[in-house]
Amino acid sequence: MTTTHDDVPTRRLGAAPAVDELTPAERLSTDELRSVQCERLRWTLHHAYDNVPFYRRKFDAAGVHPDDCRDLSDLAKFPVTTKQDLRDNYPFGMFAVPRDEVRRLHASSGTTGTPTVVGYTERDLDTWATAVARSIFAAGGRPGHAVHVAYGYGLFTGGLGAHCGAERLGCTVIPASGGMTARQVQLITDLRPEVIMVTPSYMLTLLDEFERQGVDPRACSLRVGIFGAEPWTEGMRREIEERMDIDAVDIYGLSEVMGPGVAQECAETKDGLHVWEDHFYPEVVDPVDCAPLPDGEHGELLFTSLTKEALPIIRYRTRDLTALRPGTARPAYRRMDRISGRSDDLIILRGVNVFPLQVEEIVLDVDGLSPHFQIELTRRDRLDEMTVLVEAFDDTPAERRTAAATEIAARVKDGVGVSVGVRVVEPATLERSVGKLRRVLDRRPKA
Ligand code: DLL
Repeated sequence: MTTTHDDVPTRRLGAAPAVDELTPAERLSTDELRSVQCERLRWTLHHAYDNVPFYRRKFDAAGVHPDDCRDLSDLAKFPVTTKQDLRDNYPFGMFAVPRDEVRRLHASSGTTGTPTVVGYTERDLDTWATAVARSIFAAGGRPGHAVHVAYGYGLFTGGLGAHCGAERLGCTVIPASGGMTARQVQLITDLRPEVIMVTPSYMLTLLDEFERQGVDPRACSLRVGIFGAEPWTEGMRREIEERMDIDAVDIYGLSEVMGPGVAQECAETKDGLHVWEDHFYPEVVDPVDCAPLPDGEHGELLFTSLTKEALPIIRYRTRDLTALRPGTARPAYRRMDRISGRSDDLIILRGVNVFPLQVEEIVLDVDGLSPHFQIELTRRDRLDEMTVLVEAFDDTPAERRTAAATEIAARVKDGVGVSVGVRVVEPATLERSVGKLRRVLDRRPKA
């Protein structure tokens, strides 16, 4: 494999970058990018087949060999990989290098089963830092900026992933991690970072804390917010940008593919996330039978790593739903739409499909209510019921609370097609996020 490792942006403070200020890799033409991808894809398929018995077995069983991949479209002949495959091979069965070449491990929390472990060689860590540096630059961060990282540090990839990328870009990192919310606000006030990297739900918690302390968030030093690790909506972007004078942009990633920095929204266009396709090759497929879908069609996102050494991943089923579109601010790099949900977040309520994000859009649009809400699922007389719990503000009058509840129920019925209960609750009574938010409380008896 040729290693055309791109350098890192060096431009200091200022407005949105002109194209000639991007890294060489970001300036590739579409044809150049396709040829880099093709070469790296062939390397990856061989690397996986030669070094991971799991892939050898799967490719053999499907009757495909890495040599069958002559073109990017040939990738569709190869079998997909699932989270269950990683679990079945826990902890190191999917690794393609000896353990002593692995410089770092991360893992998923394992709240829903066996954790999945991912690993990185020295070069993988370098690729990752570079991808995140590129993401921060695209978001409007510049060398010399201070970056407050409030993603959790530890086995979760958010904290350390953001940290190493910010250092690579030449920023000053404030490794705050998640939690200790009052202290976060003090750190931001005192250390005056320009950039914050945090989950959007924890940003809301921080905004409430600013207000609780009587500090005007619009007057603070932050100018750029890089939000991800969980689904969020345009309504949430508006809410955050209004309460705080920042550009709020979306960052996407997942540990099985790398961590944060797989795709990034550019501050100058805010029109979806450019996938760093020279390292992570995206496909969108039908979530039912995995048939490839053309760009522009909505379906499940798959990723194939193109340069990863320790844990090459082939056609990984992310469960995330989106569509691919042509590049804009980085013309060769396709964009993915903001994630509209995960196939496993889907609530099927009396036969109707409901995504929590659809409820978020509605809640954020109703006057007199805070953006803090949760969805509770219960069962009565063998029938599933959904209740939306939303916090009012201190000064929301009782009649507005009642009217708001009626309005949400009516809009969910009209827009989503299902009857739900709505309970407007007192301020600061719902669980607050310090990292990834738990939006749905499933209290139905387990089958
Ligand atoms: O959440 C990595 C990450 C950290 C991304 C910090 C961005 C910022 P995992 O814990 O493996 O990795 O979770 C991956 O989170 O499949 C999506 O369902 C969801 N997710 C991540 N970013 C976004 C986003 C990290 N921008 C899973 N929008 C993914 C919607 C997101 N969902």
